[in-house]
Amino acid sequence: MKCVRCKAKGIIYLKRHNAAFCQDCFLYYYKNQVKKNIKRYKMFDKKDKILVVISGGKDSMALWHVLANEGYSVTGMYINLGIGQYSDKSQQVVESFAQKSGLELIVKDIKKEYGLDIYKLSKLLKRSTCSICGSIKRYLFNKVAYDGGFSVVATGHNLDDEAATLLGNVLSWEEGYLARQSPVLESTHQKLVKKVKPLYTLTERENLFYVLINKIEFLHDECPHATGARSILYKEVLNRLEEESPGTKQRFITSFLEKGRKHFQDVYEKIELKECISCGQVTTTEICSFCRFAQILKQNKEV
Ligand code: FES
Ligand code: ZN
Repeated sequence: MKCVRCKAKGIIYLKRHNAAFCQDCFLYYYKNQVKKNIKRYKMFDKKDKILVVISGGKDSMALWHVLANEGYSVTGMYINLGIGQYSDKSQQVVESFAQKSGLELIVKDIKKEYGLDIYKLSKLLKRSTCSICGSIKRYLFNKVAYDGGFSVVATGHNLDDEAATLLGNVLSWEEGYLARQSPVLESTHQKLVKKVKPLYTLTERENLFYVLINKIEFLHDECPHATGARSILYKEVLNRLEEESPGTKQRFITSFLEKGRKHFQDVYEKIELKECISCGQVTTTEICSFCRFAQILKQNKEV
């Protein structure tokens, strides 16, 4: 197995590209993919102030590292969601990386700063912890970015994540979600910051290689609530398809973006946006879910 670029000994084989790479050429390939994605979707440029959402896992750590190394103005943002040891360990990894690399980091703690508890909320609202957690994260990324004058929020979603999400949304024709599934979501309200996914064509495995080669610390554990999640089943199904027919995931995503998504565009444009009567952040209801969560916990202190 020889490297397709330099003919040295290959260390990683990418089936969907039918190509092997040596270490240096893999890094060249990886950065090139990131640069192409940024350019193709006009995600940002060197003048933009970018807030990178960091969980401590391989994908977000890879994203933070590659953007900082390419000379972009990046600040990491980590949210401690109060998920026991998982949150404590991931916060440590993220803080230690920021310190060693001299990178700026913003840390938010939902319990300490906002009195929020995803377990209590999940019980009271009869909703999964993941969906509560997701609403809180989306709210805080946007709020911190908007308040801090950032022009764009970048997340480490990879090809496997995007293909699994798309499969889930297609299976139940979630029009609203399909309309929003894109590597770039332009701002549709003065208080909504643009969102981008520069790693959307890179797989989990490629991100893992990138962090290992660059000796970047990351948290190996997945969030404990991820086990059994639907998205894991979708990933398994897609992995099976990918085995039989390499390139399936990438084709699924790119053809949706080229041919499918436009059919949902009007759904996206029709979403009516308001400002929360309590905090002023953008929402589709009178009061945003973040403020509602805080209210519910206040009213049910004994839970
Ligand atoms: Fe939010 Fe797992 S990261 S519930
Ligand atoms: Zn609010």
